[in-house]
Amino acid sequence: MPHDFMPGLAGVPAAKSAVSDVDGERGVLVYRGIRVEELCASSSYLETAYLLLFGQLPNRDTFTRWQQDIMHHRRVKYSIVDLMKCLPEQGHPMDALQAAVAALGMFYPGRNVKDVENNYWSAVRLVAKLPTIVATWARLRHGNDAIPPRDDLGFSENFFYMLTETPPHPSWGEIFDDCLILHAEHTMNASTFTGLVTASTLADPYTVVASAIGALKGPLHGGANEEVVLMLKEIGTPERVPGYIDEHLKNKKKLMGFGHRVYKVKDPRAIILQRLCERLFHECGTSPLYDIAVKVEQAAEELLKGKGIYPNVDFYSGVIYDKMAIETDLFTPLFAMARVSGWLAHWLEQLRENKLFRPDQIYAGDHNRPYVPLDQRA
Ligand SMILES: CC(C)(COP(=O)(O)OP(=O)(O)OC[C@H]1O[C@@H](n2cnc3c(N)ncnc32)[C@H](O)[C@@H]1OP(=O)(O)O)[C@@H](O)C(=O)NCCC(=O)NCCS
Repeated sequence: MPHDFMPGLAGVPAAKSAVSDVDGERGVLVYRGIRVEELCASSSYLETAYLLLFGQLPNRDTFTRWQQDIMHHRRVKYSIVDLMKCLPEQGHPMDALQAAVAALGMFYPGRNVKDVENNYWSAVRLVAKLPTIVATWARLRHGNDAIPPRDDLGFSENFFYMLTETPPHPSWGEIFDDCLILHAEHTMNASTFTGLVTASTLADPYTVVASAIGALKGPLHGGANEEVVLMLKEIGTPERVPGYIDEHLKNKKKLMGFGHRVYKVKDPRAIILQRLCERLFHECGTSPLYDIAVKVEQAAEELLKGKGIYPNVDFYSGVIYDKMAIETDLFTPLFAMARVSGWLAHWLEQLRENKLFRPDQIYAGDHNRPYVPLDQRA
């Protein structure tokens, strides 16, 4: 049956899913039917991860068990730490994360994806261990020892502790947790689709997550938050914004952290993140990057008026992480450690009615070309 070719599969449904939904015209994002604004106001990352993975909010007992299961699986084996020690310290943390996650699959018997119990423990391990891997790499590459997790700290506080050996400023845990909620899931994006293609072969979940991490790395996807902060630092002062943006757009360059395939209004996540920025700066002192970011948004609105291009999730998140003294190249790994719950939610959903992805193509090459022997070629 002939089909129209849709570059980037724009508008082509790749799955039926009940995990999340976006209304790009109204700027509404729901996880399992609940708006992200409500989740940020009332939930935690771990509770939201449970909601995404299993379709409903946990009751008190289930939530306690889920938190304990996560807490008991945060450590990574010495062999994984040793493996990371062998990687070049100047390499990108996303590559280290991808390598470590792929290696995790060699240590855990997650290969039979028809085993529901085993799938639960794979999800627990992946949600629990990604922050440990990110923090471990952040320390090892500077010649510091990895710091084991602390059981008295919550998910987000513990991440900061594993990075710096001190628990964070009291409000940072809450603000960071909201950032993780906002990055946890976003319908059929490039990395989720990549994970599902891998999952459709019935590969184990570690391989599914490792392939999704590869797709998330690119600057058109999760890599944009890193590029945003580099751009804001390059601009340097609010006064230089109009000239820089004008020149940038005249040269037909895209503004990182702006635009979205689905949203035609400001990304609801960017609105919440901007509020989180303001809360953070109110409590911990402002950041020069925020003033530049607000100016960039104003200038872009002026110049891109009518094109439906507004800040996306990557625009303000980097400003928050920068204020929390997190190194710029760790921003995309932070995205991955949140998004792993969304990837795995889609993986579990797809396993219930799996079909191997095997799309078609429109062949645009030759037929019947003769083979020319090497010594007769021009
Ligand atoms: C996310 C993104 C890939 C979606 O783009 P898309 O739906 O494929 O849209 P296109 O790239 O085809 O762009 C459509 C038009 O908007 C413009 N546009 C889109 N994003 C833009 C941006 N960030 N800055 C300037 N112009 C942009 C394009 O130049 C194009 O203009 P034209 O019609 O005059 O040629 C794109 O907006 C982008 O590259 N953004 C920057 C990277 C980023 O922040 N990614 C994170 C996404 S959460």
